[in-house]
Amino acid sequence: MITCRNLSKSYGDQIALKDLNLTLEAGDAFGFIGPNGAGKTTTIRILATLQDPSEGDAWIGGHSVTHEPEAVREVLGYMPDQFGLYEGLRCWEYLEFYAAAYRVPRRRWASLVEEVLELTDLIQKKQAFVETLSTGMRQRLCLAKTLLHDPKVLVLDEPASGLDPRARIELKLLLKELSKMGKTLLVSSHILPELADFCNKVGIIEQGRLLASGSVNSILAQASRDRYRLRIRVLQRCDEARQVVEQQLEASDLEVSEDGFVLTTAVTLEGQADLLDKLVRDGFRPIEFAHLKTDLEQIFLEVTQGLTA
Ligand SMILES: Nc1ncnc2c1ncn2[C@@H]1O[C@H](COP(=O)(O)OP(=O)(O)OP(=O)(O)O)[C@@H](O)[C@H]1O
Ligand SMILES: [Mg+2]
Repeated sequence: MITCRNLSKSYGDQIALKDLNLTLEAGDAFGFIGPNGAGKTTTIRILATLQDPSEGDAWIGGHSVTHEPEAVREVLGYMPDQFGLYEGLRCWEYLEFYAAAYRVPRRRWASLVEEVLELTDLIQKKQAFVETLSTGMRQRLCLAKTLLHDPKVLVLDEPASGLDPRARIELKLLLKELSKMGKTLLVSSHILPELADFCNKVGIIEQGRLLASGSVNSILAQASRDRYRLRIRVLQRCDEARQVVEQQLEASDLEVSEDGFVLTTAVTLEGQADLLDKLVRDGFRPIEFAHLKTDLEQIFLEVTQGLTA
């Protein structure tokens, strides 16, 4: 549904995006993660046909963004990172204005406006002037506007920025809902965990280059390849147990707590099972021996470390 081939963009000497290759299937929800200046907005604006790439091309629903921008706009809903709202309009007027711009037949305006207001939970604000809305509501109104022409593909540039924690959760639920409706989503953010639970794919971009991409699980596996974060807790003689563990396997990043410790090791599963056997045999009475998931925040730091270090 979205394909990028060697998509690149330079501004003079400044390379904003370099050889982006990406394929998203219909129904995918893709989290596009990167720090400030990584190239997220650049990519999104190219997909939204607002900017031409310097090299490469992208296709949305099979249409080239450079050769068939009008066909792309018909299937694409784009929400910019910063947007103005026309003041002096009520929410419904604002939406009807855009329905007209999207060339929706007039007889459908009223029901369509109701529909997108319901979906974005703004129906109470139908008669309110747009300038009286809170930041989170404005964000949702902008999303409502983006949904008017029932686009199959949604490209949202940091839709959660500026929202309080509750509004973020609500937005996340809304995006989940849209994903369930079968829409293909590309959503950018600085914050990984925010996207992880509704995106089936994520990509990490920095300095214009896509450093890692794939399913959330494959990214997790990639980053924690052959390394385990292990938590061990014992009922007694915790200090002694720690010494045994350190003798038995090579460990790093050791964190000690009252009744146990967490460490990172490259030792095989076989070796870990041997260690557990030994702890039991030596009478330490282990109550926990668990692999902790490397969290996405950690992966983000590890993946991007290569470039910034
Ligand atoms: N119009 C422009 N002229 C010159 N350089 C630009 C222009 N737009 C973007 N850039 C540069 O391209 C790079 C990528 O910017 P981009 O806005 O795509 O980053 P981003 O990932 O969206 O960052 P943020 O998280 O801050 O929104 C940056 O180095 C930026 O300075
Ligand atoms: Mg940006």
